[in-house]
Amino acid sequence: MTTRIIGTGSYLPKRVVTNDDLAKIMDTSDEWIRTRTGIRARHLVEEETTTFMCVEAAKRALENAGMQAEDIELIIVGTITADHVTPSAACEIQAAIGADKAVAFDVNAACSGFLFALHTAHAYIQAGIYKNALLLGAETLSKIMDWDDRSTCVLFGDGAGAAVVKADETGLLAFEQGSDGAKGHVLACEGRRNNNPYVSNDKAYDYVHMDGQEVYKFAVSTVPASIMRVLEQAEPCEIDYYVLHQANIRIIQSVAKRLKADEAKFPISLDHCGNISAGSVPILLDEMNRKGMLKRGHKIVMSGFGAGLTWGTALLEW
Ligand code: ACO
Repeated sequence: MTTRIIGTGSYLPKRVVTNDDLAKIMDTSDEWIRTRTGIRARHLVEEETTTFMCVEAAKRALENAGMQAEDIELIIVGTITADHVTPSAACEIQAAIGADKAVAFDVNAACSGFLFALHTAHAYIQAGIYKNALLLGAETLSKIMDWDDRSTCVLFGDGAGAAVVKADETGLLAFEQGSDGAKGHVLACEGRRNNNPYVSNDKAYDYVHMDGQEVYKFAVSTVPASIMRVLEQAEPCEIDYYVLHQANIRIIQSVAKRLKADEAKFPISLDHCGNISAGSVPILLDEMNRKGMLKRGHKIVMSGFGAGLTWGTALLEW
């Protein structure tokens, strides 16, 4: 028995912000952003929240799976930008969709969040504790960006992706996940400061800061190695698609080259979405599903990588 994805959904905020739009409010250009990252536009929230986007994505995934919210046993949300410290995004979604039976919690694994959620649900399913789960990867990254730092804010976007999984004969064939907390500083964002009466706070709040070149080196070495280890766990097979975290087109091209795989097998959403951290993989998967690109029996590698540092890779049969 393993874990199979039986439905997907996603939501992108209504407001589309192109590179040219950004060039009107900061010292940047479409040429700089596009040639270094592949990003042409991103969606940014105005009224939408992380929970709102998740609820929309969840409803679409449930409909696609042909399942009712009240039958869901587990909800896990990969996010670093839940609307509240508590309750979790997962508990808010549970209430909004009426998944009364479900146990709900968030995981904080940044861009690996959806893969960590999938692997956690798989562990519960393998253990026989639950038979299905609603998994989400979602971010409102625009609220933790320093909009005066052009080297980071142009890279990211907002959105939510969802998948319904259930126990089945086929599905997840192999996976691995990893963390390297010693390199956490290369991509970080401060949380709430202690404001108790015995602590003096005089520094302004910090936003996301990133050592872009270190992140790049981490991604292009760790991701192909992780994918190869996962493929070694399974029977040899032809991979139909590599659904990678959408950070940067150059990272994806480098991974394809190192794997000696055809770049046409690496679908892209970063051109119109930017980097949505935990949202990237499930949003791209949903786009592929709705375009009819995914056929029963297809072999799909999914890989997320990012802050923590963390990474997670899965080989699935669709
Ligand atoms: N517009 C115009 N110029 C810019 C911008 C911008 N938005 N941002 C930076 N610059 C300038 C810099 O000021 C610098 O100018 P200088 O040479 O006069 O000092 C110049 O461009 C080069 O800056 P670098 O930071 O060295 O640019 P680099 O070529 O390294 O590209 C990038 C930056 C695209 C972020 C690259 O490091 C990268 O691809 N890193 C991978 C990290 C990544 O994708 N992170 C996403 C989040 S992490 C994740 O999801 C895994």
